[in-house]
Amino acid sequence: MMEANSFQLFPDQASSIASHVDALYAFLVLVSAFFSLLIAFLIVYLVVKYRHRPELGPPVAQHTNDHGPGSMILEIVWTVIPLGLSMIMFAWGVSIYFTESRPPADSMEIYVTGKQWMWKIQHMEGAREINELHVPINRDIKLTMTSEDVIHDFYIPAFRTKSDVLPGKYTTEWFKPTKLGAYHIFCAEYCGTKHSGMIGTVYVLSETDYNTWLGAGSGEGSMAEQGQSLFNQLGCGNCHPSVVNNQNGRCPNLVGLFGTRVQLKDGSNVRADESYVRESVLYPQAKIVAGYDDIMPTFKGLITEDGMLKLIEYIKSLGTKNGTMTTATPLPVETSASPQPSTHAAAPGKTAPRTAQTPALQPQRIQ
Ligand code: CUA
Repeated sequence: MMEANSFQLFPDQASSIASHVDALYAFLVLVSAFFSLLIAFLIVYLVVKYRHRPELGPPVAQHTNDHGPGSMILEIVWTVIPLGLSMIMFAWGVSIYFTESRPPADSMEIYVTGKQWMWKIQHMEGAREINELHVPINRDIKLTMTSEDVIHDFYIPAFRTKSDVLPGKYTTEWFKPTKLGAYHIFCAEYCGTKHSGMIGTVYVLSETDYNTWLGAGSGEGSMAEQGQSLFNQLGCGNCHPSVVNNQNGRCPNLVGLFGTRVQLKDGSNVRADESYVRESVLYPQAKIVAGYDDIMPTFKGLITEDGMLKLIEYIKSLGTKNGTMTTATPLPVETSASPQPSTHAAAPGKTAPRTAQTPALQPQRIQ
């Protein structure tokens, strides 16, 4: 716990990976310490052993480049041992790196948006928080993160995990908290004058406490439901069918899209992941789906990063390649609405910067 008042060299080991990271670190320190001491000892020992003695007279210069036959065994020993040690460090490090960079498939998803200088967190169920992150213990948690401005880095020392948070891109980070308590969140990438103040707290709760906390949430509906409202407000449903077996020929049906591979007009294909959805909303011309025309206008400036994450959750809720359907109900297609692209731009409402207290249903310009 961060309130601990005793002196601590290391943060708590509060996640499943923490002890592994610390073990590797301890190994590196021990190997370095051993060789540092060995070399220091040899320097002193050899200086004393081969010191100049007055009874030997003045030193005699050795006029030869012949250092003798050398020792093959010595050469092999001091090559193979360091090689072996560095290979152990390499394999061990890679194994931890791969574990940390691959979130387990059934992870609970939470969204993080970095902004000068705060962390905005959204839970799938709709709860939102700023500079605080509540998580249940003993669950795999996957953070999907992006930035509204510059590069930040989401770092939880007690979980031994950190990852850059980049504008225009989604990065992930996962952990499994194993110890109840409150732990520091830091921004670990210099991001401007108040970088050092871009901190927060992660609260690890029991499953029951977490559900109670979630239940006391915003009452704005799940992220997918909020995404559906946004989908309506932006007029996406005027063109994109979001019910099964509805095809209007103008815009791709979004049901079951997420996670599939999409065939593009130029013959290539792309996986429909978070980044693809984001790009398609902001830069619709970038990847045109095979069989469709370049008619979609950009929504750049009409949707915040938080709103984008809600839209993505809504599209995920329309089904994934695994056929899982989640909370949101499919949207009926408004067949009477005008299909003209100009309807897309009808919605933007200028409102105050969003906080945990203000409703998020209005599309807003990025501040
Ligand atoms: Cu954000 Cu440093």
